[in-house]
Amino acid sequence: MSERIGQAETIVILDFGSQYAQLIARRVRDSGVYSVLAKPDVTAEEIRDLNVKGLIFTGGPSSVYDDGAPRCRKEIFELGVPILAICYGMQLSCQMLGADIKPAASREFGRASLKVLDADTLLKNVPATTSVWMSHGDQIHDLGPDFVALATTTTCPYAAVRHRKIPFFGVQFHPEVTHTPHGSEIFVNFLYDVCGCRGLWKMGSFVEQVVAEVRDRVGPDEQVICGLSGGVDSSVVAAMLHKAIGGRLSCILVDNGLLRMNEVELVRKTFADHFRIDLTVIEAEKQFLTLLAGVTDPQEKRRIIGHTFIDMFKEAARGITNARYLAQGTLYPDVIESGHSLAGQAANIKLHHNVGGLPAELGFELIEPLRDLFKDEVRQAGELLGLPPTLVWRHPFPGPGLAVRCIGEVTRERLEVLRKADNILLEEIHANHLYRKTAQTFAVLLPVQSVGVMGDGRTYEDVVAVRSVDTADFMTADWSRIPYDVLATISNRIINEVRGVNRVVYDISSKPPATIEWE
Ligand code: XMP
Repeated sequence: MSERIGQAETIVILDFGSQYAQLIARRVRDSGVYSVLAKPDVTAEEIRDLNVKGLIFTGGPSSVYDDGAPRCRKEIFELGVPILAICYGMQLSCQMLGADIKPAASREFGRASLKVLDADTLLKNVPATTSVWMSHGDQIHDLGPDFVALATTTTCPYAAVRHRKIPFFGVQFHPEVTHTPHGSEIFVNFLYDVCGCRGLWKMGSFVEQVVAEVRDRVGPDEQVICGLSGGVDSSVVAAMLHKAIGGRLSCILVDNGLLRMNEVELVRKTFADHFRIDLTVIEAEKQFLTLLAGVTDPQEKRRIIGHTFIDMFKEAARGITNARYLAQGTLYPDVIESGHSLAGQAANIKLHHNVGGLPAELGFELIEPLRDLFKDEVRQAGELLGLPPTLVWRHPFPGPGLAVRCIGEVTRERLEVLRKADNILLEEIHANHLYRKTAQTFAVLLPVQSVGVMGDGRTYEDVVAVRSVDTADFMTADWSRIPYDVLATISNRIINEVRGVNRVVYDISSKPPATIEWE
């Protein structure tokens, strides 16, 4: 694919196994510059065609003295391209360039007070004393003749450094995390003053360009198929393609009976009524629920749902004439995970949830317009394309749907109870302006009954668990601190309004060790 507008200037991020690698990439993009992740030993050759304006080295869990610790190639320092190296990236580079690294007197983790010694370039507009976030075992012991210290803390004399001869900067702290309040100034200084970027990465231009590319690629008699799920990614793909090729887009929604309340109506209203997209809804609740009858094992549920979805989708696609392409909502993190990018097999691999995905043997050519984007950028694109906020800001929903939130057997009756409870929960979360503050909030129906009293009678009914998490990347998460009075209303309403439920509990587990979903 040809180079896109924003990609005329690219920052390549060498990932030394940092949990923050993608966060750094997003910080750079938020500052208006396109960025990609690369494996630590990427060659100069591999990045030569990328219009690279600068390199960022991430931190990582290793010590430069560990056997097998990731290293970059020496040739990278000879490119003349500016480098900002963070934590382990800094220790490694400084060692390769002649400084001496030693274990710090004690491991330093948490907030530190940074004293700026030189505010000329990298630390311009950073207060003379400011808070930074540290997390390291080793540090620079002796700078050697080629480095100058730019900042210091009481325990770390070389908290920021510059090389005298090459455009190299290193910081021992983490400018990418929110606990470093002036981190964004450091990125801006590096990107604009040091690397000379102009800030070409703009979502509007990106969307226009992808639309033009799709228009060029799809012939006048050819059709593109897109599977809609009610989620953000497939919705943005459909809106983008519709803008590009109008009536040559056909969308398919498989209603597996496991969707949330009013989900099918929302998709129908948005795509068929508003955008006037050709939408086929396959009513397949019966098939799915018949196959799921008696199944309680989560992986077995996933397997059945995944296979049945593919069968249904295939059959619907066969009915669309001249279908040559399949549009998919693959995102940049998926591209990284798949190992098919400059990032190689990244150190942080998220478990793949293969439900809702379609196999290659379906025989279509793929169109993946979101391959370059992070999730938050997809939402920006969705807003620009005129999708309603209810769709753009929807919390993620798993491919196997409510089946993995209906613990135990999945039946129509149990799904109905769950759907009602979930809907009340979301109504209250919206009413209290918490929807955008939490990353994912949902109800889970447990396979236990508990004793209660209603009126003068004893009840023995279902338990609903409320799950709400705060997370940026869904790989780690903390439970949301929903105010007690909101929880009280949620509980009251669910017990009063959903027949068959007499108890509501709140899940206060973080991930790890728990996961976000219960199954
Ligand atoms: P866990 O439960 O692993 O979830 O902490 C992390 C994120 O992934 C979603 N999830 C799934 N998505 N198919 C999907 O498409 C699945 O089988 C699946 N399982 C979990 C989950 O909702 C959360 O956003």
